[in-house]
Order: sequence, then structure tokens, then C-alpha cells
Amino acid sequence: MLVKKAEIIITAVKEHQYPPEGISEIALAGRSNVGKSSLINTLINRKNLARTSGQPGKTQTINFYNINDTFRFVDLPGYGYAKVSRKEREKWADMINRYLTKRQSLREVVLLVDIRHSPGEHDKMMYDWIKSIGFSGIVVATKADKLSKNQQARQIAVISRELGIEDRKLIVSFSATKKQNKDKVWNILDEILDI
Ligand code: GTP
Ligand code: MG
Repeated sequence: MLVKKAEIIITAVKEHQYPPEGISEIALAGRSNVGKSSLINTLINRKNLARTSGQPGKTQTINFYNINDTFRFVDLPGYGYAKVSRKEREKWADMINRYLTKRQSLREVVLLVDIRHSPGEHDKMMYDWIKSIGFSGIVVATKADKLSKNQQARQIAVISRELGIEDRKLIVSFSATKKQNKDKVWNILDEILDI
């Protein structure tokens, strides 16, 4: 996709702050620090529209981005960050669940996992949930630049096996720093959005 326009619509905490339904949304889910905001920035060719940080837990809100007035990226807060209170973690989980279970405009949830690690319990739960809803279940394995091509292929096999990904086309290794497989991710998204 040629991105001509990309802008933040709103940083939401509560449901009433979500933008109106009616435009397709693609949400990015994954543990804190996995690279969700970086993926958005890479796809839309912007350095820091979606705020990134070396500090995990940066995105603590649901951020809606308007792309070309055609669809929205929805940057979800990362889960599994240990260094916050249990209450805080529950608040995030509740925020994510509310959005995912109620949003009619949601077309797909892309699950991001770090290519260097086996998926964790939260990743497995999220993936199973995504499939159970009837979405394709696209997995982007991030930070691929940190591994050799051989290691990447090995880890893709491990992650596919552990999550139970049946279609190899639905998992993509990705690097925001090297822009690796940016086009591949766009092709998958274009197909889902049917544009
Ligand atoms: P939260 O908002 O905390 O949930 O994190 P996030 O998933 O949005 O991660 P973010 O995009 O902020 O990236 C976290 C850190 O990982 C930052 O320091 C990024 O620069 C780094 N990072 C993200 N993607 C890549 C990548 O492909 N390669 C490398 N080497 N670093 C990356
Ligand atoms: Mg983020």
C-alpha cells in the first residue's frame, strides 16, 4: 500500500473515547517491548508517529491511527510486563479485552512475537483467541535483524509449531530496523482489507 496519509486519531483509555465504528481496523497485539509501535512506524514510513521506547510498557493506551482515510491501525498496550503492579496489569488486560471483544470494525489482530524466543503463555492465549474468533491469525516475528537467516528459519519453525500455525504464509519474520519483509506484511494486510 502507498501510504499518503497517516495520523493519530486518538489515544484512548475508555470505550467512549474510541473513534466511531465503520472503518476497518487492524490491531497489533503482543507483549510489551516486542515492537508493535515500531511495526506501525515502519509500515507507514514514519520515524516515530507511533511512540516507541526502550522502556517497556510505553504504550499504556489504545492508540488509533488513520491510514489514508481507508483503515485504522490500532496499537494495543503490551501485555506481560512484570515490573508493574498486579492492579495495573489487570487494568491493561481489561482495556485490551474490552476492545477486542466488542469492536465490530475489527478485521484482524496481528500477533507480534520476538523471533528470538518461544511464545509465552500470553502469546498462546492471544493466538488461540484470535483463531477462535475466526480471524486468520497473522504472526509477525519481530527483531529478525538480531538473528542470522538460518537462525530465523529455525525460530520460525519453533514458533509455528508452538502456536500451532498451520499455514506458513501466515507467519512472517520482520525487522523494523532493516525494514525486512515490510512488503510481505503489507501484502497480507492488503488482502485482509481487500484494497
Ligand atoms: P510497548 O508499547 O511497551 O508495548 O512496546 P512495543 O511493542 O510498542 O515496542 P516498541 O515498538 O516500542 O519497541 C521496543 C524496543 O524494541 C525499542 O527500543 C525499539 O527500537 C526496539 N525494536 C523494535 N523493533 C525492532 C526490530 O525490528 N529490531 C531491533 N533491533 N529492535 C527493534
Ligand atoms: Mg508501543
